[in-house]
Amino acid sequence: MRVYLDNAATTPIAPEVVEAMIPVMQEGFGNPSSTHYFGRQTKALIETSRRTIAKHLVCEPSEILFTSGGTEADNIALYSAVNQMGVNHIITSTIEHHAVGHTAEAIAKTGKACVSYVKVDSKGNIDLADLERLLKLDGIAIVSLMHANNEIATLLPLEEVSALCRKYNALFHSDTVQTMGHYSFNLSELDIDFITCAAHKFHGPKGVGFLYVNKKNKIETRIHGGSQERGLRGGTENVYGIVGLAKAIELAYEDLDAHHHHVQELKNYMIANLSKMFDNISFHGEIDPEKSLYTVLNVCFPKTDKAGMLLFSLDLKGVAVSGGSACTSGATKGSHVLEGIGADMTRPNVRFSFSRYTTKAEIDFALEQVQSVFTIALA
Ligand SMILES: Cc1ncc(COP(=O)(O)O)c(C=O)c1O
Repeated sequence: MRVYLDNAATTPIAPEVVEAMIPVMQEGFGNPSSTHYFGRQTKALIETSRRTIAKHLVCEPSEILFTSGGTEADNIALYSAVNQMGVNHIITSTIEHHAVGHTAEAIAKTGKACVSYVKVDSKGNIDLADLERLLKLDGIAIVSLMHANNEIATLLPLEEVSALCRKYNALFHSDTVQTMGHYSFNLSELDIDFITCAAHKFHGPKGVGFLYVNKKNKIETRIHGGSQERGLRGGTENVYGIVGLAKAIELAYEDLDAHHHHVQELKNYMIANLSKMFDNISFHGEIDPEKSLYTVLNVCFPKTDKAGMLLFSLDLKGVAVSGGSACTSGATKGSHVLEGIGADMTRPNVRFSFSRYTTKAEIDFALEQVQSVFTIALA
């Protein structure tokens, strides 16, 4: 048996998404910029997909800019804020995904904006009083804080942060890559400037996503070329990716409550069983369902001298998980997120992440393998 519990890294594509994409691959080959029948057909597919996404997020289709995924969307948001909207102060945290953290650092190097890091507590919660202190500083600010942390699951109270940003006339960007398709968004009520999406995090295809751009904002063209995406992002569109993304959004929101309930139950079950299995086990980040992304559980195991082999041993036993984020696994550097919350880096940590396709039998299998790896390791 082999179980996949690394859904925060990426998810398997849904069969219905594949079904929606195949005819586009087979027949929808026209270049959307061509004015003939074939081009008009694929152009229509793109615009229908944009409308589907906008309907689910309760925003306008023109506020959806298709990108290659979350990283590009985060980059466009921050660069646009600084280069087009006069921002000279980026307020973020040390536990953001590198798509935000490294972008903020790169912008700081240009000298066009400085970066401040808001305090976070040991569970990854943002200190709102410290955020307010930073918002009071001189300058035009953008706050960039992720909706849910991809390693430790802690959720950001979006409405509270939005209210603070508006009070101090700051822009607000949230990396929603881990929550899009897993929580509903009503952008007619949530006052936010930019949110981001990567389709592969909710059973869509890889290499496609979008940036939601509040219509008040001005976007910088970062990929120059043709007039695609209203001249904001040149290059022939990823038509079948876009169709797959829209289908994945539809499927995710069709049965969201049932998926949420199913996955949260699995997470609770895993927490309960691991807590029975080990005396001194703990969890990184929040685990309270109100404050924690239900698809992610970051476990801080007891110390063992085989810690370095933990992920490898689990993999050999058929359990695919990760330590920290996929982008850093394989590298020897520890997780910047765990470091950012002051976690005990000498204890091994494993991120289990679930999807609507994960079954209780798979969790039971994973728990058995964890038990056997530790029985050997601690012997
Ligand atoms: C929170 C977060 N932001 C951004 C990204 C980057 O998304 P992509 O790899 O699709 O560009 C990821 C992916 O791991 C993520 O988890």
